[in-house]
Amino acid sequence: MTPAEYALLISEPRIAGRVRDLAGEIIRNRGDGELCLIGLMKGSFMFMADLSRELSRRGVPLLTDVMTVSSYREDVRSSGRVSIIQDITLDIKGRDVLLIDDILDSGLTLETVRGHLHVKGAAKISVCVLLAKERPGRAGPLPEYTGFSIGTEFVVGYGLDMAGKYRELPAIYALDGGSPG
Ligand code: IMP
Ligand code: MG
Repeated sequence: MTPAEYALLISEPRIAGRVRDLAGEIIRNRGDGELCLIGLMKGSFMFMADLSRELSRRGVPLLTDVMTVSSYREDVRSSGRVSIIQDITLDIKGRDVLLIDDILDSGLTLETVRGHLHVKGAAKISVCVLLAKERPGRAGPLPEYTGFSIGTEFVVGYGLDMAGKYRELPAIYALDGGSPG
């Protein structure tokens, strides 16, 4: 079902193809041993499900965990507060970690979580985002892996929501005009 006032931006086959390519890139760059996937909830649940299965099909041994953070989006420019609501339970000391998120916007969420995982002793931390929004002056380094670069429009589907809605859509839709009405 297409939500009203949204237009298809990235179709299911394009997402599936890009997930396969990303898995290939990740495999080429990884070391030996288990790769520890950490998905940021709730937005990355669908992407993580597909990416982890693709890595598994190709024989990558995985450890998986999730984390929930809240980013105070209204305040993001002024205070930049990101807080951890639910932490991982795996011990990541000395681990090769791949942090997975749905979308990179200001960069504050990933910057904060990257620091947190560093403090927990991860040996290596790479970041994989499905989408990267066009955003001048973003915080932190670029993710090691990016699915698609998009404009400034607000997007939903494939895990991304608008006030809890539309996460279940199998493709990605964009709202015209930039922010939800
Ligand atoms: P950042 O800390 O500004 O990079 O925020 C990233 C988070 O904001 C993502 O994990 C999403 O939860 C949310 N977000 C940013 N842009 C969108 C969008 O277009 N649609 C839905 N959620 C978004
Ligand atoms: Mg999110």
